[in-house]
Amino acid sequence: MKTRAAVVHQPGKRIEIEELDLDGPRDGEVLIRYTHAGLCHSDLHIAYGNMEARMPMVLGHEGAGIVEEVGPGVTRVAPGDHVVCSFIPNCGTCRYCATGRQSLCDLGATIPEGHLLGGRFPITGPRGQYGAMSMIGAFSQYGVIHQNSAVKVDKDLSLDKAVLVGCAVPTGWGSAVYAANVAPGHTVAIYGSGGVGINAVQGARYAGAKNVVAIDPLENKREKAIELGATHAFATAEEAQQAITEMTSGQGADSAILTVGLMTPEVVAAGFNAIGKGGVVVVTGLNRMMQPTIQLPGSILTLFRKTLKGSLFGDCNPTYDIPKILDLYKAGDLKLDELITRTYILDEVNEGYDDLMAGRNVRGVIVHEH
Ligand SMILES: NC(=O)c1ccc[n+]([C@@H]2O[C@H](COP(=O)([O-])OP(=O)(O)OC[C@H]3O[C@@H](n4cnc5c(N)ncnc54)[C@H](O)[C@@H]3O)[C@@H](O)[C@H]2O)c1
Ligand SMILES: [Zn+2]
Ligand SMILES: [Zn+2]
Repeated sequence: MKTRAAVVHQPGKRIEIEELDLDGPRDGEVLIRYTHAGLCHSDLHIAYGNMEARMPMVLGHEGAGIVEEVGPGVTRVAPGDHVVCSFIPNCGTCRYCATGRQSLCDLGATIPEGHLLGGRFPITGPRGQYGAMSMIGAFSQYGVIHQNSAVKVDKDLSLDKAVLVGCAVPTGWGSAVYAANVAPGHTVAIYGSGGVGINAVQGARYAGAKNVVAIDPLENKREKAIELGATHAFATAEEAQQAITEMTSGQGADSAILTVGLMTPEVVAAGFNAIGKGGVVVVTGLNRMMQPTIQLPGSILTLFRKTLKGSLFGDCNPTYDIPKILDLYKAGDLKLDELITRTYILDEVNEGYDDLMAGRNVRGVIVHEH
Protein backbone atom coordinates (compact mmCIF):
# COMPACT_ATOMS: atom_id res chain seq x y z
CA MET A 1 0.00 0.00 0.00
CA LYS A 2 0.98 3.66 -0.27
CA THR A 3 1.71 5.92 2.68
CA ARG A 4 2.75 9.55 2.97
CA ALA A 5 5.61 10.06 5.37
CA ALA A 6 8.11 12.63 6.69
CA VAL A 7 11.64 11.55 5.82
CA VAL A 8 15.13 12.73 6.61
CA HIS A 9 17.57 12.03 3.74
CA GLN A 10 20.55 13.97 4.84
CA PRO A 11 21.34 15.41 8.24
CA GLY A 12 20.95 19.17 8.29
CA LYS A 13 18.48 19.25 5.38
CA ARG A 14 14.78 19.99 5.79
CA ILE A 15 12.50 17.00 6.41
CA GLU A 16 10.75 15.91 3.18
CA ILE A 17 7.26 14.55 2.68
CA GLU A 18 7.21 11.58 0.32
CA GLU A 19 4.75 8.98 -0.89
CA LEU A 20 6.25 5.58 -0.08
CA ASP A 21 5.39 1.91 -0.48
CA LEU A 22 4.54 -0.11 2.60
CA ASP A 23 4.69 -3.91 2.62
CA GLY A 24 2.02 -5.83 4.58
CA PRO A 25 2.67 -7.32 8.03
CA ARG A 26 4.68 -10.55 8.18
CA ASP A 27 5.46 -12.87 11.14
CA GLY A 28 4.88 -11.04 14.43
CA GLU A 29 4.22 -7.74 12.67
CA VAL A 30 1.31 -5.33 12.79
CA LEU A 31 -0.06 -2.78 10.32
CA ILE A 32 -0.99 0.42 12.14
CA ARG A 33 -2.98 3.38 10.92
CA TYR A 34 -1.26 6.14 12.81
CA THR A 35 -3.64 8.76 14.11
CA HIS A 36 -1.18 10.92 16.06
CA ALA A 37 2.55 11.47 16.49
CA GLY A 38 4.40 13.68 18.97
CA LEU A 39 7.24 16.00 17.95
CA CYS A 40 10.05 14.88 20.27
CA HIS A 41 13.46 16.52 20.29
CA SER A 42 15.14 13.16 19.52
CA ASP A 43 13.79 13.22 15.92
CA LEU A 44 15.50 16.58 15.55
CA HIS A 45 18.78 15.08 16.73
CA ILE A 46 18.55 12.70 13.78
CA ALA A 47 17.44 15.42 11.36
CA TYR A 48 20.32 17.66 12.49
CA GLY A 49 22.89 14.86 12.61
CA ASN A 50 23.26 15.08 16.40
CA MET A 51 22.34 11.41 16.63
CA GLU A 52 23.79 9.06 14.04
CA ALA A 53 21.29 7.07 11.99
CA ARG A 54 21.02 5.22 8.69
CA MET A 55 19.44 7.31 5.93
CA PRO A 56 16.80 7.67 4.61
CA MET A 57 14.72 7.41 7.76
CA VAL A 58 11.02 7.98 8.35
CA LEU A 59 10.93 10.01 11.56
CA GLY A 60 8.52 9.77 14.48
CA HIS A 61 8.87 7.51 17.51
CA GLU A 62 6.07 8.89 19.72
CA GLY A 63 3.10 7.34 17.95
CA ALA A 64 -0.44 6.12 18.51
CA GLY A 65 -2.97 4.58 16.21
CA ILE A 66 -5.31 1.75 15.39
CA VAL A 67 -4.34 -1.79 14.38
CA GLU A 68 -5.58 -2.47 10.84
CA GLU A 69 -4.12 -5.93 10.21
CA VAL A 70 -1.88 -8.43 11.97
CA GLY A 71 0.62 -10.91 10.55
CA PRO A 72 0.95 -14.60 11.53
CA GLY A 73 1.81 -15.30 15.16
CA VAL A 74 0.64 -11.96 16.54
CA THR A 75 -0.88 -12.42 20.00
CA ARG A 76 -0.43 -9.07 21.74
CA VAL A 77 -2.90 -7.06 19.65
CA ALA A 78 -5.78 -7.63 17.21
CA PRO A 79 -7.34 -5.59 14.39
CA GLY A 80 -9.28 -2.63 15.79
CA ASP A 81 -7.17 -2.35 18.93
CA HIS A 82 -5.93 1.09 19.95
CA VAL A 83 -2.21 1.15 20.58
CA VAL A 84 0.48 3.47 21.89
CA CYS A 85 3.88 2.62 20.44
CA SER A 86 6.84 2.15 22.70
CA PHE A 87 10.03 3.61 21.24
CA ILE A 88 11.93 0.73 22.82
CA PRO A 89 10.58 -2.68 21.80
CA ASN A 90 10.30 -5.38 24.45
CA CYS A 91 10.74 -9.05 23.60
CA GLY A 92 9.85 -10.25 27.10
CA THR A 93 12.59 -12.85 27.26
CA CYS A 94 16.06 -11.27 26.91
CA ARG A 95 18.03 -10.90 30.14
CA TYR A 96 16.88 -7.27 30.51
CA CYS A 97 13.18 -7.88 29.86
CA ALA A 98 13.32 -10.95 32.10
CA THR A 99 14.67 -8.85 34.96
CA GLY A 100 12.17 -6.00 34.71
CA ARG A 101 14.35 -3.67 32.66
CA GLN A 102 12.42 -3.59 29.40
CA SER A 103 13.90 -0.26 28.34
CA LEU A 104 17.21 -2.11 27.90
CA CYS A 105 15.66 -4.83 25.69
CA ASP A 106 18.22 -6.26 23.28
CA LEU A 107 15.84 -5.49 20.41
CA GLY A 108 16.65 -1.81 20.86
CA ALA A 109 19.96 -2.51 19.10
CA THR A 110 18.56 -1.79 15.62
CA ILE A 111 17.30 1.72 16.47
CA PRO A 112 20.13 3.47 14.54
CA GLU A 113 19.20 1.49 11.39
CA GLY A 114 15.45 1.44 11.95
CA HIS A 115 14.73 -1.95 10.42
CA LEU A 116 12.61 -4.77 11.79
CA LEU A 117 13.88 -8.20 12.89
CA GLY A 118 16.00 -9.97 10.31
CA GLY A 119 17.04 -6.76 8.55
CA ARG A 120 13.59 -6.24 7.08
CA PHE A 121 12.59 -2.78 5.78
CA PRO A 122 8.82 -2.73 5.17
CA ILE A 123 9.06 0.78 3.69
CA THR A 124 10.55 1.35 0.23
CA GLY A 125 10.50 4.31 -2.14
CA PRO A 126 12.44 6.31 -4.71
CA ARG A 127 15.58 6.17 -2.57
CA GLY A 128 15.46 2.43 -1.86
CA GLN A 129 14.86 0.98 1.59
CA TYR A 130 13.70 3.39 4.28
CA GLY A 131 14.35 2.86 7.98
CA ALA A 132 11.77 3.91 10.57
CA MET A 133 12.80 5.81 13.66
CA SER A 134 12.85 3.41 16.63
CA MET A 135 11.32 0.83 14.24
CA ILE A 136 8.11 2.90 14.49
CA GLY A 137 8.20 5.79 12.00
CA ALA A 138 5.03 7.47 13.25
CA PHE A 139 5.39 10.48 10.93
CA SER A 140 3.68 8.29 8.36
CA GLN A 141 -0.01 7.65 7.76
CA TYR A 142 0.58 3.91 8.10
CA GLY A 143 3.39 1.79 9.50
CA VAL A 144 4.32 -1.85 9.89
CA ILE A 145 5.90 -2.44 13.28
CA HIS A 146 6.69 -5.49 15.37
CA GLN A 147 4.11 -6.40 18.01
CA ASN A 148 6.93 -5.93 20.56
CA SER A 149 6.65 -2.17 19.95
CA ALA A 150 2.84 -1.96 20.34
CA VAL A 151 1.09 -1.55 23.67
CA LYS A 152 -2.69 -1.97 23.67
CA VAL A 153 -4.58 0.78 25.48
CA ASP A 154 -8.22 1.29 26.49
CA LYS A 155 -10.47 2.40 23.65
CA ASP A 156 -12.15 5.00 25.83
CA LEU A 157 -8.91 7.01 25.96
CA SER A 158 -8.45 9.57 23.26
CA LEU A 159 -5.29 8.78 21.30
CA ASP A 160 -4.58 12.48 20.69
CA LYS A 161 -3.51 12.71 24.33
CA ALA A 162 -2.40 9.12 24.94
CA VAL A 163 0.20 9.48 22.15
CA LEU A 164 2.45 11.42 24.56
CA VAL A 165 2.82 8.26 26.62
CA GLY A 166 4.91 6.77 23.80
CA CYS A 167 7.97 8.81 24.79
CA ALA A 168 7.83 12.18 26.58
CA VAL A 169 5.69 11.21 29.54
CA PRO A 170 7.27 7.90 30.64
CA THR A 171 10.76 9.27 29.89
CA GLY A 172 10.30 12.31 32.13
CA TRP A 173 8.01 10.78 34.76
CA GLY A 174 10.21 7.70 35.08
CA SER A 175 13.40 9.77 35.21
CA ALA A 176 12.01 11.19 38.46
CA VAL A 177 10.06 8.27 39.94
CA TYR A 178 12.40 5.41 38.98
CA ALA A 179 15.81 6.73 37.99
CA ALA A 180 16.08 9.51 40.58
CA ASN A 181 13.98 7.54 43.07
CA VAL A 182 12.29 10.71 44.31
CA ALA A 183 10.73 10.24 47.75
CA PRO A 184 8.49 12.37 50.01
CA GLY A 185 10.28 15.45 51.30
CA HIS A 186 12.99 15.45 48.63
CA THR A 187 14.40 18.45 46.82
CA VAL A 188 14.69 17.84 43.07
CA ALA A 189 16.29 20.07 40.44
CA ILE A 190 15.08 19.57 36.86
CA TYR A 191 17.08 21.17 34.04
CA GLY A 192 14.92 21.73 30.94
CA SER A 193 11.10 21.92 31.05
CA GLY A 194 10.33 20.74 27.51
CA GLY A 195 8.24 17.70 26.61
CA VAL A 196 10.39 15.36 28.69
CA GLY A 197 11.34 17.70 31.54
CA ILE A 198 7.78 18.82 32.25
CA ASN A 199 6.96 15.18 32.93
CA ALA A 200 9.91 14.86 35.29
CA VAL A 201 8.25 17.78 37.12
CA GLN A 202 4.97 15.83 37.22
CA GLY A 203 6.74 12.66 38.38
CA ALA A 204 8.70 14.43 41.11
CA ARG A 205 5.57 16.11 42.42
CA TYR A 206 3.59 12.85 42.38
CA ALA A 207 6.41 11.05 44.22
CA GLY A 208 6.10 13.60 47.02
CA ALA A 209 9.04 15.94 46.56
CA LYS A 210 8.89 18.96 48.86
CA ASN A 211 10.80 21.22 46.46
CA VAL A 212 10.50 20.72 42.70
CA VAL A 213 12.90 23.22 41.15
CA ALA A 214 12.52 23.73 37.39
CA ILE A 215 15.30 25.43 35.44
CA ASP A 216 14.64 26.67 31.89
CA PRO A 217 15.73 29.88 30.12
CA LEU A 218 12.26 30.24 28.58
CA GLU A 219 9.50 31.94 30.52
CA ASN A 220 6.65 29.96 28.90
CA LYS A 221 8.33 26.70 29.96
CA ARG A 222 8.82 27.94 33.50
CA GLU A 223 5.16 28.98 33.71
CA LYS A 224 4.08 25.53 32.52
CA ALA A 225 6.39 23.91 35.07
CA ILE A 226 4.79 25.88 37.89
CA GLU A 227 1.31 25.05 36.54
CA LEU A 228 2.13 21.32 36.61
CA GLY A 229 3.74 21.05 40.01
CA ALA A 230 7.07 22.83 40.23
CA THR A 231 7.42 24.78 43.46
CA HIS A 232 10.16 27.05 42.08
CA ALA A 233 11.31 28.01 38.60
CA PHE A 234 14.50 29.77 37.54
CA ALA A 235 15.98 30.93 34.25
CA THR A 236 19.56 29.98 35.10
CA ALA A 237 21.42 27.23 36.93
CA GLU A 238 23.17 29.86 39.07
CA GLU A 239 19.90 31.25 40.44
CA ALA A 240 18.67 27.72 41.09
CA GLN A 241 21.91 26.77 42.87
CA GLN A 242 21.59 29.66 45.27
CA ALA A 243 17.94 28.93 46.01
CA ILE A 244 18.58 25.20 46.49
CA THR A 245 21.39 25.93 48.93
CA GLU A 246 19.01 28.14 50.92
CA MET A 247 15.99 25.84 50.83
CA THR A 248 18.05 22.84 51.96
CA SER A 249 20.08 24.70 54.59
CA GLY A 250 23.23 24.06 52.61
CA GLN A 251 22.64 20.31 52.15
CA GLY A 252 21.94 20.40 48.42
CA ALA A 253 19.27 18.65 46.36
CA ASP A 254 18.56 14.94 46.63
CA SER A 255 18.54 14.62 42.87
CA ALA A 256 19.08 16.52 39.64
CA ILE A 257 17.35 15.42 36.43
CA LEU A 258 18.85 16.65 33.17
CA THR A 259 16.34 16.96 30.34
CA VAL A 260 17.75 19.81 28.23
CA GLY A 261 17.47 19.56 24.45
CA LEU A 262 21.18 19.10 23.79
CA MET A 263 23.29 17.81 26.68
CA THR A 264 26.46 19.74 27.54
CA PRO A 265 29.22 19.43 30.18
CA GLU A 266 27.95 22.71 31.70
CA VAL A 267 24.47 21.30 32.36
CA VAL A 268 25.91 18.08 33.82
CA ALA A 269 28.21 20.13 36.07
CA ALA A 270 25.29 22.31 37.20
CA GLY A 271 23.27 19.24 38.20
CA PHE A 272 26.30 17.69 39.89
CA ASN A 273 26.88 20.84 41.95
CA ALA A 274 23.22 21.16 42.89
CA ILE A 275 22.99 17.76 44.57
CA GLY A 276 24.30 17.11 48.05
CA LYS A 277 26.04 14.15 49.67
CA GLY A 278 24.56 10.85 48.50
CA GLY A 279 22.64 12.65 45.76
CA VAL A 280 21.97 11.42 42.25
CA VAL A 281 22.21 13.05 38.82
CA VAL A 282 20.03 11.51 36.12
CA VAL A 283 21.21 12.15 32.55
CA THR A 284 18.20 11.83 30.25
CA GLY A 285 18.91 14.41 27.52
CA LEU A 286 21.13 13.41 24.61
CA ASN A 287 23.85 14.62 22.29
CA ARG A 288 26.01 12.96 19.63
CA MET A 289 26.85 9.35 20.49
CA MET A 290 30.58 9.85 21.11
CA GLN A 291 30.45 13.51 22.21
CA PRO A 292 32.02 13.88 25.69
CA THR A 293 29.27 15.58 27.69
CA ILE A 294 30.55 14.80 31.16
CA GLN A 295 33.52 16.50 32.78
CA LEU A 296 33.44 16.35 36.57
CA PRO A 297 35.74 16.27 39.60
CA GLY A 298 35.80 12.53 40.33
CA SER A 299 37.07 12.91 43.87
CA ILE A 300 33.98 14.94 44.81
CA LEU A 301 31.92 12.11 43.33
CA THR A 302 33.74 9.66 45.57
CA LEU A 303 33.99 11.64 48.78
CA PHE A 304 30.37 12.85 48.63
CA ARG A 305 29.19 9.45 47.39
CA LYS A 306 27.37 11.11 44.51
CA THR A 307 25.80 9.00 41.74
CA LEU A 308 25.64 9.89 38.07
CA LYS A 309 23.38 7.68 35.96
CA GLY A 310 21.85 7.50 32.51
CA SER A 311 18.16 6.82 32.01
CA LEU A 312 16.44 5.44 28.93
CA PHE A 313 12.63 5.64 28.61
CA GLY A 314 12.69 6.78 32.25
CA ASP A 315 13.71 3.22 33.20
CA CYS A 316 10.06 2.32 32.54
CA ASN A 317 8.76 -1.08 31.50
CA PRO A 318 6.50 -0.17 28.56
CA THR A 319 4.01 -3.02 28.96
CA TYR A 320 3.48 -2.09 32.60
CA ASP A 321 4.13 1.64 32.72
CA ILE A 322 2.27 2.84 29.61
CA PRO A 323 -1.12 1.52 30.87
CA LYS A 324 -0.27 2.60 34.42
CA ILE A 325 0.55 6.17 33.40
CA LEU A 326 -2.66 6.33 31.37
CA ASP A 327 -4.56 5.23 34.50
CA LEU A 328 -2.93 8.09 36.40
CA TYR A 329 -4.12 10.43 33.65
CA LYS A 330 -7.67 9.10 33.93
CA ALA A 331 -7.55 9.61 37.69
CA GLY A 332 -6.32 13.20 37.28
CA ASP A 333 -2.95 12.47 38.91
CA LEU A 334 -1.06 13.33 35.74
CA LYS A 335 -1.86 15.93 33.09
CA LEU A 336 -1.64 15.29 29.36
CA ASP A 337 -4.01 17.80 27.75
CA GLU A 338 -2.02 20.70 29.21
CA LEU A 339 1.21 19.47 27.57
CA ILE A 340 0.06 19.94 23.99
CA THR A 341 0.78 23.44 22.74
CA ARG A 342 -0.27 22.98 19.10
CA THR A 343 -1.26 20.37 16.55
CA TYR A 344 -0.04 20.11 12.94
CA ILE A 345 -0.82 18.11 9.85
CA LEU A 346 1.98 15.95 8.43
CA ASP A 347 2.89 18.55 5.77
CA GLU A 348 3.60 21.03 8.59
CA VAL A 349 6.25 18.85 10.24
CA ASN A 350 9.08 21.33 9.57
CA GLU A 351 6.96 24.16 10.96
CA GLY A 352 6.34 22.05 14.06
CA TYR A 353 10.06 21.57 14.60
CA ASP A 354 10.75 25.25 13.89
CA ASP A 355 8.27 26.02 16.67
CA LEU A 356 10.04 23.59 19.00
CA MET A 357 13.43 25.15 18.27
CA ALA A 358 12.00 28.65 18.72
CA GLY A 359 10.87 27.55 22.18
CA ARG A 360 7.16 27.92 21.46
CA ASN A 361 6.08 24.32 22.13
CA VAL A 362 6.01 22.18 25.20
CA ARG A 363 4.82 19.43 22.85
CA GLY A 364 3.56 19.67 19.29
CA VAL A 365 1.50 16.78 17.92
CA ILE A 366 0.91 15.72 14.32
CA VAL A 367 -2.69 14.76 13.60
CA HIS A 368 -2.69 12.39 10.63
CA GLU A 369 -5.11 12.68 7.73
CA HIS A 370 -6.16 9.56 5.81
N1 LIG B 1 16.79 9.16 27.45
C1 LIG B 1 15.67 8.99 26.79
O1 LIG B 1 15.05 7.92 26.86
C2 LIG B 1 15.11 10.11 25.99
C3 LIG B 1 13.81 10.03 25.45
C4 LIG B 1 13.29 11.14 24.78
C5 LIG B 1 14.04 12.27 24.61
N2 LIG B 1 15.32 12.30 25.09
C6 LIG B 1 16.15 13.50 24.98
O2 LIG B 1 15.75 14.38 26.02
C7 LIG B 1 16.03 15.73 25.64
C8 LIG B 1 14.80 16.58 25.82
O3 LIG B 1 13.82 16.25 24.85
P1 LIG B 1 12.50 17.15 24.71
O4 LIG B 1 11.68 16.54 23.63
O5 LIG B 1 11.91 17.39 26.04
O6 LIG B 1 13.14 18.52 24.17
P2 LIG B 1 12.53 20.02 24.23
O7 LIG B 1 13.23 20.77 23.19
O8 LIG B 1 11.05 19.94 24.25
O9 LIG B 1 12.97 20.55 25.69
C9 LIG B 1 14.24 20.97 26.03
C10 LIG B 1 14.13 22.13 27.00
O10 LIG B 1 15.44 22.40 27.53
C11 LIG B 1 15.53 23.80 27.70
N3 LIG B 1 16.96 24.14 27.82
C12 LIG B 1 17.87 24.28 26.81
N4 LIG B 1 19.08 24.57 27.33
C13 LIG B 1 18.93 24.61 28.68
C14 LIG B 1 19.81 24.85 29.77
N5 LIG B 1 21.10 25.09 29.58
N6 LIG B 1 19.31 24.81 31.03
C15 LIG B 1 18.01 24.54 31.25
N7 LIG B 1 17.12 24.30 30.24
C16 LIG B 1 17.58 24.33 28.99
C17 LIG B 1 14.82 24.36 26.49
O11 LIG B 1 14.43 25.71 26.68
C18 LIG B 1 13.63 23.43 26.39
O12 LIG B 1 12.51 23.90 27.10
C19 LIG B 1 16.55 15.63 24.19
O13 LIG B 1 17.96 15.57 24.22
C20 LIG B 1 16.01 14.30 23.73
O14 LIG B 1 16.73 13.76 22.66
C21 LIG B 1 15.85 11.26 25.79
ZN1 LIG C 1 11.29 10.88 22.16
ZN1 LIG D 1 13.94 -8.00 25.58
